[in-house]
Amino acid sequence: MNLVVRSPLEQKPDYLVCTCACVMYSEIVDAIRGGAKDLKSLSDELLVGVGCSSCVAEVQQILQEELK
Ligand code: FES
Repeated sequence: MNLVVRSPLEQKPDYLVCTCACVMYSEIVDAIRGGAKDLKSLSDELLVGVGCSSCVAEVQQILQEELK
């Protein structure tokens, strides 16, 4: 039997999007796939964008890509 164990990072790219709230790309994508439809719902759920706001453009871009 051949067992191959892969890191989650090999399966999908991940990176820190919101440094203020320590929110990763994968967490944002999971929230969108779980029903978050806009920045407010992501902010309510993950606290993205409620600090310095420098991540808002990136979060909006992720939203657009995921909601296509
Ligand atoms: S980096 Fe997201 S609120 Fe500051």
